Amino acid sequence: MNNIQIMKTLFFCCTVTIIVIGVLSENEESIEAKYHKARAECQADPETGVTNETLLRSFKSQEISPAVGNHSLCIYKKLDAVNEKGVVNKSVVEEMLQAIVEDKNKLDEAVNECEERSKGTPLEVAIELSKCMWDTWKKYSESDEE
Ligand SMILES: *[C@@H]1O[C@H](CO)[C@@H](O)[C@H](O)[C@H]1NC(C)=O
Ligand SMILES: *[C@@H]1O[C@H](CO)[C@@H](O)[C@H](O)[C@H]1NC(C)=O
Ligand SMILES: *[C@@H]1O[C@H](CO)[C@@H](O)[C@H](O)[C@H]1NC(C)=O
Repeated sequence: MNNIQIMKTLFFCCTVTIIVIGVLSENEESIEAKYHKARAECQADPETGVTNETLLRSFKSQEISPAVGNHSLCIYKKLDAVNEKGVVNKSVVEEMLQAIVEDKNKLDEAVNECEERSKGTPLEVAIELSKCMWDTWKKYSESDEE
């Protein structure tokens, strides 16, 4: 991969696929802005920080280690996508996914699927929710792939 491709992948990895946020959103108070703030805070905390390289590797292998899961959970909690008990907030997940799923029925379907898949301890929920968002992103971004 050349540098541009690496940067693109990292961008998708970190800003789209970990939580799949509204890249196309123009609203300053958008979930994207909240996400950037949350990610910086979670990155700065040794308990939840992981390097960009680790995230990139995670995305490429489609495997989420507990350390990356902790990082995701930290972000999800700050965005209120997942609470302390590991319960998913569907309206927040919908906000994240609507950047990639335009059709309202398909969006509802994706949100329901991610909510149903994401059960267990808060860490398990964060890992499964991230994977579900990756799956949703892959499913609906196919036509944009080069
Ligand atoms: C990691 O990536 C984010 C953007 O996704 C960037 O803001 C940050 O500066 C990067 N950190 C390092 C250490 O490269
Ligand atoms: C994940 O977070 C929990 C609680 O903050 C911590 O006990 C655990 O060591 C962390 N795991 C990793 C791999 O960082
Ligand atoms: C889910 O999040 C929305 C928006 O942040 C909030 O208004 C709502 O009360 C939350 N729902 C639950 C069940 O926590």
